[in-house]
Amino acid sequence: MTVLKEEAKQTIAAHGGKLVNRELKGAEREKAIERAQDYPSLTINKWGVSDLELISIGGFSPLTGFLGENDYLEVVDNLHLADGTVWSIPITLAVTEEEVDKLTIGKPVALYGEDGVLYGILDLEEAYRYDKKKEAQKVYGTTDDSHPGVKKLYEKGDIYLAGPIHLVNRPEHEGFEDFYLDPIETRQLFQDLGWKTVVGFQTRNPVHRAHEYIQKCALESVDGLLLNPLVGETKADDIPADIRMESYQAILKHYYPKNRTRLVIYPAAMRYAGPREAILHATVRKNYGCTHFIVGRDHAGVGDFYGTYEAQELIAQYEEELGIHIFKFEHAFFCTKCENMATQKTCPHNKEDHVHLSGTKVREKLRNGEPLPRQFSRPEVAEILIKGLQRGAKA
Ligand code: ADX
Repeated sequence: MTVLKEEAKQTIAAHGGKLVNRELKGAEREKAIERAQDYPSLTINKWGVSDLELISIGGFSPLTGFLGENDYLEVVDNLHLADGTVWSIPITLAVTEEEVDKLTIGKPVALYGEDGVLYGILDLEEAYRYDKKKEAQKVYGTTDDSHPGVKKLYEKGDIYLAGPIHLVNRPEHEGFEDFYLDPIETRQLFQDLGWKTVVGFQTRNPVHRAHEYIQKCALESVDGLLLNPLVGETKADDIPADIRMESYQAILKHYYPKNRTRLVIYPAAMRYAGPREAILHATVRKNYGCTHFIVGRDHAGVGDFYGTYEAQELIAQYEEELGIHIFKFEHAFFCTKCENMATQKTCPHNKEDHVHLSGTKVREKLRNGEPLPRQFSRPEVAEILIKGLQRGAKA
């Protein structure tokens, strides 16, 4: 394992103490690619490739591979790795019985993407069965397969493979190359910018006024904002990442001070695991060098599966152990009487004075080409979303 020396200079240590780097380069990489020709191969889906990437670049530090059974059970049951480090979501590689039959414990496996690219190598140490219903209940809080994360879990193979990995080719992030940085690079960036305190913001949605409000409230008390949208796999009815990225750039350009914000992608898949995923999101941002992280209403939630503040309640229990400060925000809205963004904590008026729009309503309006109320969305953002969705509908 390569440990990056620069880390010593950082204001916040990586989770578990050391930023992981599992990427092979130069001659070592060439050799690994050549040897991989003789290894049994496995095709992994996009989600698997993004996990491989995040482990390799240190986003999932201290993980160096896919979880073995001891770690897996500890994570599922107790939100910790076997060595006692907080970890909330199992990072695993599932295969079918037929696939596992071709493999040998103790021997490497070549990991190919569905696009035929060799992305990595797994030093196969373990293959074990797992209890899907238990994982669903513990991690997602439900066994209902109308939950998108649970549905994916039920569709996976019945056996998990485990062991350290090596990355030999990075997945492409077409169109987002200018916004791709490794955790070691964001750490360097913050240092170069002189940011000692940085708040990370996770999002999988186009930016709206409530996002802007909570980001700016946080920015009032830290040096910088890392706008870190998730651009990996999301559910089909979420707004595509390319359109969202345009919306983030527009809002930063028109409404944020340039020297206090940076936009960097988070190339992970969305699990929709609410409270548990909020902990993962904070952990990863800590690895990217953020000292603070925002958890607002129904963080990483979907439908009615989680209570509005369940993510905040769970993360509060682990905040000290995680070692990253969590900014918790109540549901934010525009109040027509205050003529401002606010929350229940700061606004004395009635519900009727508050502008609320559900995600479904927003998507419906955008698909019909209708403008969004200015109190809900900046016009520059709404315009991009309308154009983007109409473009998508025609494609
Ligand atoms: S998430 O799945 O990535 O959490 P989203 O992009 O909508 O979804 O939210 C990003 C962050 O903003 C989360 O921390 C979420 O809790 C917070 N958030 C979203 N909308 C609001 C709101 N109206 N008021 C307060 N926080 C919000």
